[in-house]
Amino acid sequence: SPQELHDRIDQLIRDVEDFPKPGIVFKDISPLLADHDGFTAVVNGLAAAALDEAGEPRVDKVLGIEARGFILAAPVALRLRTGFVPVRKAGKLPGPTHAVSYALEYGEATLEMHQDAIEPGDKVLVVDDVLATGGTVNATKELVEACGGEVIAVAVLMDLSFLPGREALGETPLHSLYTI
Ligand code: PRP
Repeated sequence: SPQELHDRIDQLIRDVEDFPKPGIVFKDISPLLADHDGFTAVVNGLAAAALDEAGEPRVDKVLGIEARGFILAAPVALRLRTGFVPVRKAGKLPGPTHAVSYALEYGEATLEMHQDAIEPGDKVLVVDDVLATGGTVNATKELVEACGGEVIAVAVLMDLSFLPGREALGETPLHSLYTI
């Protein structure tokens, strides 16, 4: 059940104080990934965001966002019997890319995706570890739309309810396994 999954995640993530900066409490998912049953439950929970009522996959691709999003999105793609598409930080992908820049707390970041990674009309599930301000996921939605695809849902391991990420997603459904 969602509550059991929430409790299992709660037991397996670890708070690290003052990382990466003083005053920040970092939620470290390493112990969860290292636990076979926990990792399996999380992958199944994320994949559920893209199953229809009959339990059939309803997406053409699963997108993962560098770096921790890759760890979760790749097994979700296999679980949904689709391919995996990486969304990477600027300068990492070799082919022709679409690029979207967005504001960070200090400065700017750019994400890229290969132009041929998504076909027009493709339905896409976006997977990441954390939804915070929503800047990363919204930039990813723009990349999908630049290819003519559609993000049918965003699935994250955790979301931070004290930040406006959920609202920033607009109409796109958010499937979060753990809310802080
Ligand atoms: C983190 C996290 C999300 C993003 C969420 O990535 O993995 O991708 O921030 O923040 P937002 O909702 O405010 O955009 P980070 O840039 O730290 O990358 P990493 O996974 O490579 O460490």
